[in-house]
Amino acid sequence: MTSGQERVQAMAADAAARFEAVYGGPPALIVRAPGRVNLIGEHTDYNGLPVLPFAIEQSHYLAAGEGSGPRIEIANADPQYAAATIDVEALDAFAPPGSWENYTRAALLGLCETSVLPSHLLERGLRVLVGSDLPSGVGLSSSSALVVGFAVAALAVNQIDADRQRLAEVLAEAEQHVGTRGGGMDQAACLLGRQGHALKIDFFPLEVDPVRFGGPGCLPVLISDSGVRVEKSGAGRMLYNRRPIECRLALALFQRWARRFGHAEFGAARHWGDLVKPPFELPHAGVLALIEESIKQPWYSIHDLCDHLAMREQDLRERYLRIGADEYLLEPADGFRLQQRAQHVISEGWRVEEAALALRSGDWPRLAELLEASHASCRDLYEISCPEVERLVGAALEAGALASRLTGAGFGGCVLHLVSVARFERFRDTMERLLGPMAAPVLARPAAGAEILALTRPAA
Ligand code: GLA
Repeated sequence: MTSGQERVQAMAADAAARFEAVYGGPPALIVRAPGRVNLIGEHTDYNGLPVLPFAIEQSHYLAAGEGSGPRIEIANADPQYAAATIDVEALDAFAPPGSWENYTRAALLGLCETSVLPSHLLERGLRVLVGSDLPSGVGLSSSSALVVGFAVAALAVNQIDADRQRLAEVLAEAEQHVGTRGGGMDQAACLLGRQGHALKIDFFPLEVDPVRFGGPGCLPVLISDSGVRVEKSGAGRMLYNRRPIECRLALALFQRWARRFGHAEFGAARHWGDLVKPPFELPHAGVLALIEESIKQPWYSIHDLCDHLAMREQDLRERYLRIGADEYLLEPADGFRLQQRAQHVISEGWRVEEAALALRSGDWPRLAELLEASHASCRDLYEISCPEVERLVGAALEAGALASRLTGAGFGGCVLHLVSVARFERFRDTMERLLGPMAAPVLARPAAGAEILALTRPAA
C-alpha cells in the first residue's frame, strides 16, 4: 500500500469510528470527496470559458448511514462545526450565510428538485459524520467537496447510481442556494477527477477532457497557504459575487453596443464564452478588440449603467444586482470595473486552451509563462489577489519556482507553484527559510474524484 492509500484508509477508519461513537452503530459506507487545485482558468467557469483543475488527495471523508425518520443528522469531527438536525420537510430553511449545514441543505435540495433523488427516499433519513484533511477557506474547494460528499452519500445510501456528469451540473446549480454565484468547476473536478490527470473542463454544456499530468516526466505542483481565510459563503461572498455580476453587466453593455452597430446576433450569447464558440467562433483576440471598442469607461456607476442600457434603476437592480430573496449587490465604492473584468475572462479562457496544449506536449516553459500571465491578470484586471498572496508568489519566484499563482476564488487562500524536478528539494527548503515552517509548501498530486470506499474492519 502506498502512503497515500494508507492515509485514505486511516481517515476512513477514523470517520467510521466517530460515526459509531455519535450514532451508536457503524456507518453503511464512507465517501471520499476531494478538494481541487486549479492550474489555470480562474473565474472563467461561470462565463462559459474553460478551466484546468485537478482533484487532490486532501479530502472530506463522510461516514454515512440510513437515519431514523424524516430528518438528516450531521456531525463533524472538527468541533468548530456544530452537529445539526435538518427536517426533511424544511430542507430550504437555510441557516444564516456561512453555516456549514447549508451545504447539506443545498446538496439534498438540488437532488430532490431535479428528481435525481426521489424526495420520498429522504423520508428514511440520513446520518452523516464528516472527517477531513481538506482545510476550508483556502481556495481548495472544501465547500463544493462537502456538497458533493453529501450528495454522493445520500445517493449511495439509497442505492441510486447517478450519472456523474449530470450530477456535477445539478450540484453546481444546487450550490447557488448557499448564496454564492459560483460556476461549475469545483463540483466537476471533485466528481470527475482522475488520478494522474488534470481536467480541461468546458461549460454549458459540461464537457470534460482529461489531460495526463503527474507521474514521471511531469513537473510537481506545490501549494502553500497565504494564511488569509476567505470563506466563499461567508465574508468572501460579496467579494466573489461582485465578479459574476460585473461580467454579466459587461456582456450586456457589449451586446447593446453590438446591436447599435448592426450585430444584433451577438444578443444571443448567454455568456462571454459563447462568442468564441460556434456559431460565432470569434478569435479571442477579436473579442478583446471588441471589448475595448464597446466598454470604454474604466468604471461605471449605477447611473452610467442605467444610461447605457436604457434601464430604470429599479429594473437594473432586479435584473443584475439581485443575489438572494432580499439581497442586492451594492454599488462598489470604486465603481463597476467592467472592461478589465471582461478582458481577464477572455484572455484567461485563451490561456487555458494554450495551457492544455502545453501540458499535452510537456512544454513546461510555455506552461509556466501562461501561469504567470494568469496570475498577473488575476491581480491587475480581476483584482482578486492580496498582499499576503503577493508575498508568497514573490518568495516562490525568489526560491526558484518556474511559476507561482493564486488558485481558486482568490482574496487569500492558497498559491500554487510549478517547480522543476531538479530544484524541488531546494525550493521547499528555501521557502521554509524565507517564510517559516507554517508556509512550507506541500505537494498537490492529481488524484481520483469522489469515491465510495470499502470499509475495512480491523482484524479480530
Ligand atoms: C470558486 C468557484 C468556482 C470558480 C473559482 C474561481 O472556487 O466555486 O466556480 O469560479 O472560484 O476560478
